[in-house]
Amino acid sequence: MSTTTELKQTQTLGALGAKSAEQVLSLFAELRARFDADAGTATSEVSWKALRDAWLGRKSGVLTLVTDNWLKPSSPELKRVVGASLNELRAHVDAQIEERRVAIESRAQATATAKDRVDLSLPGVIRPIGSHHLIRQVLQEIEDIFFSIGFSIVEGPEIETPYYNFEALNIPEHHPVRDDMDTFYLELPKGVPGPLLLRTHTSPVQIHTMEKRQPPVRVVVPGKVYRRDNPDATHSFMFHQIEGLAVDSDITFCDFTGTIDYFVKQFFGASVKTRFRPSYFPFTEPSVEFDASCIFCGGSGTASAGGVCGKCKGAGWIELFGAGMVDPAVYGFVNYDPKKVSGFAFGIGIDRLAMLKYGIDDIQAFFQNDVRFLRQFP
Ligand code: FA5
Repeated sequence: MSTTTELKQTQTLGALGAKSAEQVLSLFAELRARFDADAGTATSEVSWKALRDAWLGRKSGVLTLVTDNWLKPSSPELKRVVGASLNELRAHVDAQIEERRVAIESRAQATATAKDRVDLSLPGVIRPIGSHHLIRQVLQEIEDIFFSIGFSIVEGPEIETPYYNFEALNIPEHHPVRDDMDTFYLELPKGVPGPLLLRTHTSPVQIHTMEKRQPPVRVVVPGKVYRRDNPDATHSFMFHQIEGLAVDSDITFCDFTGTIDYFVKQFFGASVKTRFRPSYFPFTEPSVEFDASCIFCGGSGTASAGGVCGKCKGAGWIELFGAGMVDPAVYGFVNYDPKKVSGFAFGIGIDRLAMLKYGIDDIQAFFQNDVRFLRQFP
């Protein structure tokens, strides 16, 4: 603030020697010039507040002091000119201070906006890209193999009725097979028709598919399934299967084993051999269990370091999955004519197949989301 006129507002007009209107006007002109000089330096919020307090402060602001020291004690002849000049100065100070406030605020806003502005020409933020889970990768690989030989991929519901999960697959109530598939039943709200369950295998989608489509049918069905099995190194209560179903007018057992052998060779390698053994599923007849020659010892039963192969326990064969020719009784549930159609079905446990191929000895590793495990399968 300028100092020459600084203290004049603390003295009366008489003490300042101002006796005429001209002298009063000149004192106000000086004051106005001083204000304008002060206002010019108020460029930030802090300096603006200091300006406002110095000039408009109620107790000791310049305008209060001028009122107290110049106006109030002024002689009756000068009162009019002092009053009018003071009003004019006050209007000027008020307007200037408001103008400055708006200017400072809008400058601050413009700076903030400029800071927030997105520069679209800058390179984007690169986020680490995850990878497909090993189970998804294996499912994809199996889907691709079957897709390449004319199968299409379909999906089905994870919540099922007992009819689709059991009855239509020729598994009536009290059938011992239901004991092997200890089932999660849903607790339903009153009034919702039940019972409903979490599917124990992907086989119900065989029924959904045949209900919707007429032969020829060639589908694979990937998905999650659920069983009340206690978790251990080879069991999980949620795991993955891929179902296969081929039905046409002339599908033979030879087509069936040829297809499976093709798949196993594509998945594990051309040198791997397959064999099948009799088995039992209520919805296939005959039913078989497919084995592959041990991928670790090449089927010899002997480990490369000598001694019995730990993976196949010296057998030279590893159990893969169950399959069979579709039981004619199943066709009865979907209105196919068993005299006109034939086909095969298989159900592969994905988790265990992935464990075999990638040498994983604990199924739980798939579900623990430990990145040290997941990163090994980018
Ligand atoms: C079935 O689920 C039949 N639906 C398969 C089938 C389909 C046969 C079509 C014939 C025709 P099974 O109960 O054996 O079959 O189970 C199939 C596979 O699921 C097993 O070979 C195994 O790899 C896997 N599996 C079964 N229980 C578990 C579990 N608790 N945890 C992980 N994998 C399991």
